[in-house]
Amino acid sequence: MSDVLSQAYEVLNKAKVYYEGRAVGTIASNDPNAPADNYADCFVRDFVPSAFVFLLDGDTEIVRNFLQIILTLRDQQAEQEGHQMLPRVMPASFRVTFREDGGQDVHADFGDRAIGRVAPVDSMMWWLVILAAYTRVSGDDSLVRDDEVQRGIRMIMNICLRDHFEVFPTLLVPDASFMIDRRMGVYGHPLEIQSLFYAILNVGRELLDADDPDCHPVLEQMAKRLDLLTDYVRRFYWLDLARLNDIHRYRTEVFGHDSNNQLNIYPESIPEWVVDWLPDEAGYLVGNLGPGRMDFRFFSLGNLLAVMFGLAERNHSERIMQVFETRWDSLIGTMPVKICYPAMEGQEWHLSTGSDPKNTPWSYHNGGNWPTLLWPFVAAALAVGREDLARRSYELAFNRLPGDRWPEYYDGRSGRFIGRRANYNQTWSAASLILAQKFLDDPEAVQRLALGRAE
Ligand code: GLC
Repeated sequence: MSDVLSQAYEVLNKAKVYYEGRAVGTIASNDPNAPADNYADCFVRDFVPSAFVFLLDGDTEIVRNFLQIILTLRDQQAEQEGHQMLPRVMPASFRVTFREDGGQDVHADFGDRAIGRVAPVDSMMWWLVILAAYTRVSGDDSLVRDDEVQRGIRMIMNICLRDHFEVFPTLLVPDASFMIDRRMGVYGHPLEIQSLFYAILNVGRELLDADDPDCHPVLEQMAKRLDLLTDYVRRFYWLDLARLNDIHRYRTEVFGHDSNNQLNIYPESIPEWVVDWLPDEAGYLVGNLGPGRMDFRFFSLGNLLAVMFGLAERNHSERIMQVFETRWDSLIGTMPVKICYPAMEGQEWHLSTGSDPKNTPWSYHNGGNWPTLLWPFVAAALAVGREDLARRSYELAFNRLPGDRWPEYYDGRSGRFIGRRANYNQTWSAASLILAQKFLDDPEAVQRLALGRAE
């Protein structure tokens, strides 16, 4: 193994969290100077690349323990006065602490300890994706057949399928409910959540016990929603030059079902940058969509997951990877991968982030580059036969991460600086490099983890 990868493993292994003698997860960062208190937590979303590495290395026990502990933690969710309790969701993270008597406690965080008090909608989705990967790789289906686990899966599905205020097949969520967990104008129907929703509707079918009559209604609803969601996203989120030209010429205020501008998007809302930036041949899925609102920003994770899981149709998936190639300087630069493009500046930043000093232009969530996005990039590139792009991005990360001490994120238009408030030894930065290497060595590993395109 190369020296770089052994260093990455060192970061990963040092991050392991133990509860009653068993490894149950990995903490977000091993940086003693981490600015936020909760970087000592094990986050569900951060554990994703670690879990996949452990599974591919045959260390399935830690993943099983993690899945179980998360399930039991649901009961720690406090009731909120004046709210009717939803079936219990999954926590964003948990932390293991020592009592004076030497015993240990586990504390779950449902977003109530996080900065800004945000709802981690993606947690329950990632939990299911990890469960599917565990079940496939380990060949152990005793966990997924367990009554509590089946109940957990049904609950997650019911939360997602239940009507709240939706009028679209996409899932309606508040700001900051996924990897971007600060205010960034991403409320409504952000792409990342829709890609994960698509993934769990697919893997959920595999995980739910079809012989159990209790599951039939939910399975039926899942199948219908999956079709509707897929059609809707493929049709309305897709943006290429032809589509942009349509929007440019849209008639607005048109009543009735046959309008081609059902969401009443105003041509005047097309931002200046996209007109020149959008390549002739390529295209992508827009970041968010709602009534009178199209967020034209390019959000990498949502697009990459759409390619990897197959929410984006084949031809569109190829063209999404082509955007990365044609706009390499914008989206990859010196460190894969930019979280979103372009950054919000000036008045837009002021209004949409609430003047967040951590999310200044080209920093952190507002256009920073995140090494953890390497693994979905490599998986997505391989899914459409672009090993060249996968290798090119891998090289950049490989050559730079260890010398920079595995930062959490990078700043600047092309990611030249280590992020101003970035932690060092960020676990998912290291795990992502290892996982990317595994996918490059053996592209079949993506399928083995149940992460492949459902086609
Ligand atoms: C930041 C990131 C979030 C991550 C957490 C722990 O809050 O925005 O996605 O889970 O740090 O690393």
